[in-house]
Order: sequence, then C-alpha cells, then structure tokens
Amino acid sequence: MKIRILLCSLAFALSAIPGLRADDGDTELQMKMQKMSENFRPLRNQLADATKNADSLAKVATIKENATAALKLTPIKIAAMPAADQPKALEGFKAELQKLITKLDDLTAALKAGKNDEATKIYADLGAIQKEGHTEYKASGKKK
Ligand code: HEM
Repeated sequence: MKIRILLCSLAFALSAIPGLRADDGDTELQMKMQKMSENFRPLRNQLADATKNADSLAKVATIKENATAALKLTPIKIAAMPAADQPKALEGFKAELQKLITKLDDLTAALKAGKNDEATKIYADLGAIQKEGHTEYKASGKKK
C-alpha cells in the first residue's frame, strides 16, 4: 500500500516538471507550439482583410499567450546539452521568444489601428523569427 502511494506521488511529481513529455508523447513545449501554429497559419490569408480584424486579434492573443508560457519551458535540444551549456542556450532561446512576443505586440497595434498592410508585413517578420528559432533550437534544426 505504502509503495503504491509512493509511486503515485512520484508520477505526480514528474508530471509537474515543465518540459517533460505529456501522456501522448508530445512535450509541453511542442503542445504550446502546436497551438501557436494553429493560430498563426490562418493569419497569412486573413491579415489583409479588415473585416476579420477581431478574429485576427484573438488569434494573435492566443499565439502570445502560448509564446509567453513557452518562456518557462526547455527545448529537447537544450535539455540534451551538457548541464554547463544549458543556461546560456536557454537565455538565447528566451531572447528569441521575446523577439517574437514584441513583434506580436506590433501586430496587435497595427490591427487595432486598422493598418492591415503593415500587419501583413509584420507577418513576414514573424515567419523569419520562427525560422531562426527553429534552426537554432529545434532538435531536428528544421525550419517549420
Ligand atoms: C509563430 C511562430 C512559431 C510557430 C507557429 C511555431 C510552430 C512550431 C511547431 C508546429 C512545432 C512542432 C511541434 C511538434 O513537434 O509537435 C514547433 C517546435 C518547436 N519550436 Fe516553434 N514555432 C514558432 C516560433 C518558435 C520560436 C521563436 C522558437 C525559439 C525561440 C521556437 C522553438 C521551437 C522548438 C525548440 C521546438 C521543438 C519543441 C521541443 O524541443 O520540445 N519556435 N514550433
């Protein structure tokens, strides 16, 4: 009986550590990224359309929420590095995410001001930051 309680506590404790794999095999960071992707992709075709601004703003807010949560997580690639190298790599990862978050704020401001042309330009900048982030911090080094 005691051992069962111990095992349950251990399982709970492990599941509470950020960055560890969730039940379906995805890391928490992968799940945040998937949410970002679901909201980022449709923006490509709707940012130019001012009638969709309310929906676009909601999507940008969801991307920002997930990017902000990702600041607390550790990519697989960094977790696999020697412990001594991890702090610097994590700093770089967070700085790249912060760059994304700042651009998302620019996008929100552009949409609120009805500047849809500017919004489409900012989308391209976000795509470039995504590529940089993936090249540097995704285990496979893939851009998408
Ligand atoms: C709008 C911007 C972005 C989108 C839409 C996006 C989307 C994605 C997607 C779809 C994945 C694959 C998830 C999976 O394997 O299921 C992923 C993984 C990943 N992305 Fe992003 N990403 C974005 C920006 C960034 C940035 C700026 C960084 C780095 C600062 C980054 C770092 C990573 C890492 C490290 C992984 C691998 C997950 C892991 O190691 O656990 N991403 N991203």
